[in-house]
Amino acid sequence: LERIVYYNGVFAPENSVSISPFNRGLLYGDGLFETMRAYGGRVFRLSQHLERLAEGLLVLRIEPCWPARTIERAVYELLDRNKLSEASIRLTLFRGDGEGFEPQNDRASSLLISARQFGNYRAEDYAQGFRVHMVSLRRNLYSPLSRIKSINYLDNILGRFEARDNNAQEALFLNSNGWVAEGATANIFMLKNKTLITPPADAGILPGITRAAVLEIARSINWAVQEQTFSPEELLRSDEAFLTNSLMEIMPLVMVHERPVGSGIPGPLTKALHQHYRELVGKELQLSI
Ligand SMILES: Cc1ncc(COP(=O)(O)O)c(C=O)c1O
Repeated sequence: LERIVYYNGVFAPENSVSISPFNRGLLYGDGLFETMRAYGGRVFRLSQHLERLAEGLLVLRIEPCWPARTIERAVYELLDRNKLSEASIRLTLFRGDGEGFEPQNDRASSLLISARQFGNYRAEDYAQGFRVHMVSLRRNLYSPLSRIKSINYLDNILGRFEARDNNAQEALFLNSNGWVAEGATANIFMLKNKTLITPPADAGILPGITRAAVLEIARSINWAVQEQTFSPEELLRSDEAFLTNSLMEIMPLVMVHERPVGSGIPGPLTKALHQHYRELVGKELQLSI
């Protein structure tokens, strides 16, 4: 069955969409994206994703010509038209077409949204946890691209290749100062002496929507929380660690470079936090479970 996608105000079968050869996303990676998850037909923290998108637009100086209401309606109609309830949603916003190096500001930006059946992670992934490999590429503290979700994702893709070459499911990026930053597509947390610690927003990371939700949950249940830099050695000496993103939620992190994190198996606090996360999703989206 051919999927329906949304492109610039029109819902159309995926194969009928044509994108300009002068699309700046294609020519320069000039655009932004968001990846979101729908549960029971409702998108978790859609408005937060759109706020992050808006911040990215400011950084890239792209005229914000797509109102949040329009995007929200398009996302929901897309889920409807594809009869999806458990879904991953990909939204891409490209700066207006033009082949010259400098953008022409009279061109309206383009919006592409697609959705597919969710099925990225399995129960055994959570039961076993992920291994990360510390990669040679670093998050550049001097680049604003480290904190927005631009469609230039090659650092992340190369990092993921390097991780896969080393039998790990995810990359571990340090920043240009040598502190732990994040994964290729995930934020990172560790637990040490019952304190939850994650690198601060200015550590060369994407400010994850899931990261924010996890911090919120931990504070609401009175856990000690610190947004603080830490080294890879400290990560190895932690009691538990985990990765977060919108699709995988909370994934236990059990190994770094063949060395175990904590006891080398998914930790009890990580599991408890994941349970709280699912409850929050259910509560916010008013799902009956
Ligand atoms: C580099 C990077 N960091 C962190 C995240 C986690 O962000 P979120 O929780 O908003 O999905 C992602 C998501 O894909 C990412 O690509």
